[in-house]
Amino acid sequence: MKTDKFREIPTPFYYYDRELLEKTLTVIKEEMGKADNCHLHYAVKANTNADVLKVIAQYGFGADCVSGWEIESCVKAGFEPHKIVFAGVAKSDWEIQLALEVGIDHFNVESVQELEVIDEIAGRMGVEARVALRINPNVGAHTHANITTGLAENKFGIDIVDMVPTAREAMAMEHVRLVGLHFHIGSQITEMDDFEALAAKINELQDQLEAAGIGTLENINVGGGLGIDYYNPDENPIPDFANYFKTYREGLRLRKGQRLHFELGRAVVGQMGSLIAKVIYVKTNKIKKFAILDAGFTDLIRPALYGAYHKVENITSESGETDKYDVVGPICESTDVFVKDYELPTTKRGDYIAFRSAGAYGEIMASGYNCRPLPKGYLL
Ligand code: LLP
Repeated sequence: MKTDKFREIPTPFYYYDRELLEKTLTVIKEEMGKADNCHLHYAVKANTNADVLKVIAQYGFGADCVSGWEIESCVKAGFEPHKIVFAGVAKSDWEIQLALEVGIDHFNVESVQELEVIDEIAGRMGVEARVALRINPNVGAHTHANITTGLAENKFGIDIVDMVPTAREAMAMEHVRLVGLHFHIGSQITEMDDFEALAAKINELQDQLEAAGIGTLENINVGGGLGIDYYNPDENPIPDFANYFKTYREGLRLRKGQRLHFELGRAVVGQMGSLIAKVIYVKTNKIKKFAILDAGFTDLIRPALYGAYHKVENITSESGETDKYDVVGPICESTDVFVKDYELPTTKRGDYIAFRSAGAYGEIMASGYNCRPLPKGYLL
């Protein structure tokens, strides 16, 4: 990291490495392109920085949006409307209308009531709404409980037993066209077994649909969830896309002409980002040394919210010695701690600290608590 550039930018801020982003996108294209029916819709919720979105759009990828505001940001960034899908458990009427006006490809629908609302709004507008059903596959994922989504206890999607009746209802609606099935089992998944289990479940469900006379749908969307290596960002800057895509290529029994959609977020943008902060004070008591920063959980909430780990580096210390620090923020809350007893080069007031692997769910989850301004992100 070249710190000379950083000194002119007020901290805390997010630094995004354009070169790594582009390398990652290139690998995705190569690996995904091994089958010509595969398409990536970047899960925009991971990072909606305008410059980042522009680069991803320029590579020709689509976007997976979960709000009307995300759809607007994507259109502005240059994503083609027919490559935008709209998911989310509670789409408001204005968001549905906006999506239809923009001309997105389809909605991922999570309930019969939502289908009825979409049908009604599309009817009023004199258009047809393409929809996929988000099915809750009841497949667990080996990840943090707060970020698994595919279990029956989670609020997401349509229960497996309701799939066929819901598909029938959709097919009977005048202004709705059923085009696919959608799944997402969770995030930060590093074990391919979980994706294999999802593929096996999808095979079963496709058989059920055919047996029920519903036939073959145009799209199968397996969601996102591929994790990144938070512990070794330099050794593993690019996730194992080859294995990930292969798992689905080999595990899924797709029907002739069916399109396979992926909705990766974290794996696309996670490793390119770092939160850069400055040490304001170093405080010592009888048992601890605290490196107190100008960034807190308002800037990067993942450690406080999920107990998540981000590698911490002192990027300006020239000391050959090391010491152990609790690296903490300025917020008056005990959870405003990034790491405890963490070995760093001897750290002093004014040093710059980098939190690595913060390109996904970092800047976008920032808050204005304590009237703090939101951190800015720079694609450099
Ligand atoms: N598709 C759906 C329907 C999703 O709900 C999500 C993420 C994705 C795709 C993208 O998943 P990814 O490829 O990024 O794993 N804030 C949490 C992560 C929440 C993920 C929510 N849904 C975190 O910081 O770990």
